[in-house]
Amino acid sequence: MKFLFIFFAIFQLSNAVTIDCNYHKDGDWWAVTLKYYCEVTNDLNINSKDMTDIDGVNGELPSGITLDDIQGVNMENLTTFYFPKGLEKIFKNLLMIDINYGRLKEIHQNDFSPFPQLKSLELFENDIEVLEDDLFKFNPNLEMIWLSSNKIFHVSPTAFAAIKNLRYISFDSNPCASQYVQNNATAAKIIVENAIKNCVDQKELEVKFPSLIKTIKSIEKALVILDEKIENKSLNRIVFERKVDENSNNLGLICFMIGGFLFLGVIIGIMWMKFKEILITDSVRVKFNNSNEIQM
Ligand SMILES: *[C@@H]1O[C@H](CO)[C@@H](O)[C@H](O)[C@H]1NC(C)=O
Ligand SMILES: *[C@@H]1O[C@H](CO)[C@@H](O)[C@H](O)[C@H]1NC(C)=O
Ligand SMILES: *[C@@H]1O[C@H](CO)[C@@H](O)[C@H](O)[C@H]1NC(C)=O
Repeated sequence: MKFLFIFFAIFQLSNAVTIDCNYHKDGDWWAVTLKYYCEVTNDLNINSKDMTDIDGVNGELPSGITLDDIQGVNMENLTTFYFPKGLEKIFKNLLMIDINYGRLKEIHQNDFSPFPQLKSLELFENDIEVLEDDLFKFNPNLEMIWLSSNKIFHVSPTAFAAIKNLRYISFDSNPCASQYVQNNATAAKIIVENAIKNCVDQKELEVKFPSLIKTIKSIEKALVILDEKIENKSLNRIVFERKVDENSNNLGLICFMIGGFLFLGVIIGIMWMKFKEILITDSVRVKFNNSNEIQM
């Protein structure tokens, strides 16, 4: 019983995320000047999607200041594979979020939806790949989004649609876009349009398999490799069709084995598999990242 309790306690401990804040006054962050912001000094180590919410904050607030006066949070150089959850419960008035030099591979609408007042979002030097449909639907007040040095290859036409006055934007050093501008709404609009235009190219890839009976094993292996490569990369428009009929595979094998006793059976078995291979050949279509070829 005691052991169970200890185990449970440890489990709880490892799941809890508290942040340690160094509070700073008058943060000038280009598009926005903040009264106070928190610089997070402990590594959050967010390496799982199911990580529990940030459930506490340590650090001495400047006198006369409450958490509601903290308008920004700087989480640079931390281990953040996923966007931290629950920030809005601690800081209710965030205008700026900075996760530069992080490990983000994906970002989603519900990461940002708790921050309707957000003006500035800095996410440079991460591994972000896709800007999904309606990504910033709940952040119409964003004026600055900095996405330099990510791995963006897809930008949804609706990702930025709700934003009213974007002035600072950077796509610098991404696979499909490289423009940036500071404090020019007209140029920002053009840059977003260009990114949408240039970051759609998810090449449709047809994977053709060699068509001999002896390759049934290699087909299965190839499908496993494909699965691993594709492995939910948050692609918006992935099409992955697989039409291998496993029953016919087994049937073919059974025919082949039974046929082993009879010459005629062998012929029938081979013919069956030949027939089945036609079913297999037209089977896999993948729309994939323009830069990555799938090697079989
Ligand atoms: C994070 O690392 C970068 C590059 O090493 C550095 O320029 C920046 O000041 C760091 N940020 C913080 C808050 O420590
Ligand atoms: C803003 O960008 C537009 C389009 O690139 C350009 O024509 C204009 O001169 C820029 N405005 C300023 C103040 O730089
Ligand atoms: C993979 O993507 C689908 C469709 O977007 C989603 O429903 C599913 O939860 C994702 N799975 C994982 C493991 O992320």
